[in-house]
Amino acid sequence: MREEKERRRNGEPPLITGWIPFIGKALEFGKDAHKFLEEHKKKFGDIFTVQIAGKYMTFIMDPLMYPNIIKHGRQLDFHEFSNKVAPVTFGYPPVIKGKFPGLQEQVKRSFKLLQGDNLQLLTESMMGNLMLVLRQDHLDPRLEDHLDPRPEDHLDPRPEDHLDPRPEDHLDPRPEDGGGWRTGSMYDFCISVMFEATFLTMYGRPAAARRHSGMSVMREDFVRFDNMFPLLIAQIPIWLLGRTKAIREKLISCFLPQSMSCWSNTSQFIRERSRLFDQYDSLKDFDKAAHHFAILWASVGNTVPATFWAMYYLVSHPEALSVVRQEIHDVLQLSGVEFGSDRDVTLSKDQLEKLCYMNSSISESLRLSSASMNIRVAQEDFSLRLQGEHSAEVRKGDIIALYPQSMHMDPEIYEEPQTFRFDRFVQDGREKTDFFKDGQKLKYYRMPFGSGSSKCPGRHFAVNEIKQFLCLMLLYFDIELEEGQSRATLDSSRAGLGILLPTTDVRFRYRLRAA
Ligand code: HEM
Repeated sequence: MREEKERRRNGEPPLITGWIPFIGKALEFGKDAHKFLEEHKKKFGDIFTVQIAGKYMTFIMDPLMYPNIIKHGRQLDFHEFSNKVAPVTFGYPPVIKGKFPGLQEQVKRSFKLLQGDNLQLLTESMMGNLMLVLRQDHLDPRLEDHLDPRPEDHLDPRPEDHLDPRPEDHLDPRPEDGGGWRTGSMYDFCISVMFEATFLTMYGRPAAARRHSGMSVMREDFVRFDNMFPLLIAQIPIWLLGRTKAIREKLISCFLPQSMSCWSNTSQFIRERSRLFDQYDSLKDFDKAAHHFAILWASVGNTVPATFWAMYYLVSHPEALSVVRQEIHDVLQLSGVEFGSDRDVTLSKDQLEKLCYMNSSISESLRLSSASMNIRVAQEDFSLRLQGEHSAEVRKGDIIALYPQSMHMDPEIYEEPQTFRFDRFVQDGREKTDFFKDGQKLKYYRMPFGSGSSKCPGRHFAVNEIKQFLCLMLLYFDIELEEGQSRATLDSSRAGLGILLPTTDVRFRYRLRAA
C-alpha cells in the first residue's frame, strides 16, 4: 500500500514522507503545525500530501480553493473521521448504523436546538447562571449560600472524594489593599466561571438548590482529562495514559440517568438527547452518560480558552477595553436599563447583537488563538476541482485537510497578522466581511468554528456566552494585568484541535467599579 502510494499517480499532489516508516512527518507536524505547513507550502505550493502517522493527508493551503472542498459534501465526508475518533476519546460505543439505526441522523437534528428560538432561551438562562456564579463567588463572595451539603445534589457519585467544597479558593475574596483590588489568575478565573455557568445552562441544577456542590472537583477532573485530550484524539490507547481512564469514568458517572433525572432547568437540547438515547435498548446507562459527557467537552473545551483570550486581549489593550465598555453602556442606555453594581444585569440576544466592537474583538481573538483542522475523508477515487485549471486526484480513504490558521495569519489577508486589532472586523459601524487574497474577495476568511457539514452547531451560543461574560466583567469590575509579566503566548500542543491554551496563566487584578 505504502509503495503504491509513493509511486504517485498522474495528477496527484507532491507526496512528503518522513524517514521513519509509518510515523512519517507526525513528529515535525506535532511540534509546530503552522510552521511545518508554511515551510512546505513554500517548497511544494498550495497542495501537497503529507504522510502523518500512517495516514495520507492532502493539505489545501490556498483559501480561494476552500469553497470547492467545503461544497464536496458527498465525496468528502466529515463524519467518517469523527465517528472513529469521538467514541474512543469519550468512551461511548461507535454509532454504527446497524446497531443504532437512525441515531446519527437524530443526533445531528438535535443540534438545531442550539440555534434559532432555543438560542434565545439558552442565552437567557446563561445570563442568569453567569450572574449567579459571579455574584456568589466574586461580587458578594461572603454569601456562601450556594454550598448545599445535601449529598443527593452532589455531582460526584462518590462524595467522600471531596469533603471540602469551599468557594473558589484560587481567588482571594479579601481586598488585597486599601484600593479594594483582588488578584487572580485569568485562566483559572475564566474556567471557574464559564465551566459552571455553562454546565448549569446545559444540564440544569439540582432540584432543590441553585448550584451543584462538587463543581470544583468536577472541573479539576475535567482539566485532567482535557490535558490528555490531544493524545486520546491521536488514538493513543487510554490504558497508556495513567489515571485518565479512571478520571473519565468518574466524569461520565456524573451523567448517569438516575442523577440527571433529579436535575431541573435542563436545556431542551440535553433533554432531547436523553429522550433520543432512551429509544435505544442497546445503549447502556453508562453509554448514554458518556454521550452527555462528550457534549460537556464540546461545550466548554473550546469556549473556556476562547473566553480567556478575549478577556486577555481586551485587558492588555486598554484603549480597546474602554471603547467596548462604553459600547455596552450605550446599548444598555438605549434600552433604558440603568446599571448599578447592586443590581443584576440582563442583556438579551438582541442587545448582544448590537455590540459591534465587542463582536469584532471576539472575532479577532478567535482569529489569533484558533488552530482547528477541518478534515474530510474521500469516499471514492475522484478528481477534486480546486480553482480555475487546478485539480487534484484523490484516492478513496485519503484525508483532505484545511488548516485555517495559515489563512488567519496570512499578511496578505490580515495586515500585521500577529497584532490584536480590536476593530479589525468593523467597517462603517457594521461587521466587516470583505477580505481579499490575490485581489479576489474571500468567501471564507475566518474559520474558528470549522466549515460546511462539520461547522460547529454551538457557535452562536458560544459567542453569546463570551459576550455575556465580558459584559459582566467590564460592567462590574476594573481589571488590569499585574505588572512585570511577559506577554501571553500560545501553547501549540493541541494544534489542529481547536482554540489553543496559553503557555502559562496570567496574573491580573480586579475591583468593583465605583457606581
Ligand atoms: C464541532 C469549534 C463551542 C458544540 C465543532 C467544530 C469546531 C468547533 C471547529 C468542528 C470540528 C471538526 O470539524 O472537526 C468550537 C469553538 C467553540 C465551540 C471554537 C467556542 C469558542 C461549542 C459550544 C457547543 C459546541 C458552546 C455546544 C453547546 C459542538 C458540537 C460539535 C462541534 C456538538 C460536533 C458537530 C458535529 O458532529 O457535526 N466545534 N466550538 N461547540 N461543536 Fe463546537
